[in-house]
Amino acid sequence: MIKISPSILSCDYAKMGEEFETMKRCGADWLHIDVMDGHFVPNITLGAPIVKCMRKYSDLVFDVHLMISDPKKYIPDFAKAGADVITFHIESDSPVEETIDLIRSLGCVAALAVKPGTPVETVFPYLEKLGMVLVMTVEPGFGGQSFMEDMMPKVAALRSEINRRGLSTDIQVDGGISLSTVETAASAGANVLVAGSAIFGAEDPQAMIAELRSRAAKYF
Ligand code: DX5
Ligand code: ZN
Repeated sequence: MIKISPSILSCDYAKMGEEFETMKRCGADWLHIDVMDGHFVPNITLGAPIVKCMRKYSDLVFDVHLMISDPKKYIPDFAKAGADVITFHIESDSPVEETIDLIRSLGCVAALAVKPGTPVETVFPYLEKLGMVLVMTVEPGFGGQSFMEDMMPKVAALRSEINRRGLSTDIQVDGGISLSTVETAASAGANVLVAGSAIFGAEDPQAMIAELRSRAAKYF
């Protein structure tokens, strides 16, 4: 199933409540919340107290993308704040399996992310426990970067491994997703599409979400 997850990195943070309502009205499935610590990536965004406030303004799935060095330390806070899906990076300093188990024990969906330089096979040992794998299509840290088409073999290899094992794991792509790249990503096997600038920068976000969805749906 295709899911469209607008990255709120591109929203007006001073008007989050309104922005979330707009996204819901426009047909978004999830809200992609980018958490950056200024250490794992060279940028700082927000923490669990803000996510807790956001929760009052939206019943969409909170898709929390942790770009932080020590996710394990903060995961209980994000779960308590209302995260639904919690994604952390395999390149972080936290022990992978323990961190996945922690996310699941808190009732959230566990997801692992790989940066462009990391082979996707590194997540294979954990696949059975993961609801989703995020294949980054830009270097994490900033919105508005260009889509890296050379990540598509990773998406395809992951989709074929998921199929081979008879799993239904979601594959998310994040970075540079737009009308011109969404079909490339979906045809490789990605079904959860994060888009920040393409959606929040659109004149008609509803039409943009509908069009991203219908272009991706051709491949599923
Ligand atoms: C980048 C973030 C992305 C970002 C995507 O580190 O993880 O979620 O907001 O932005 P766009 O869609 O503008 O490339
Ligand atoms: Zn992200």
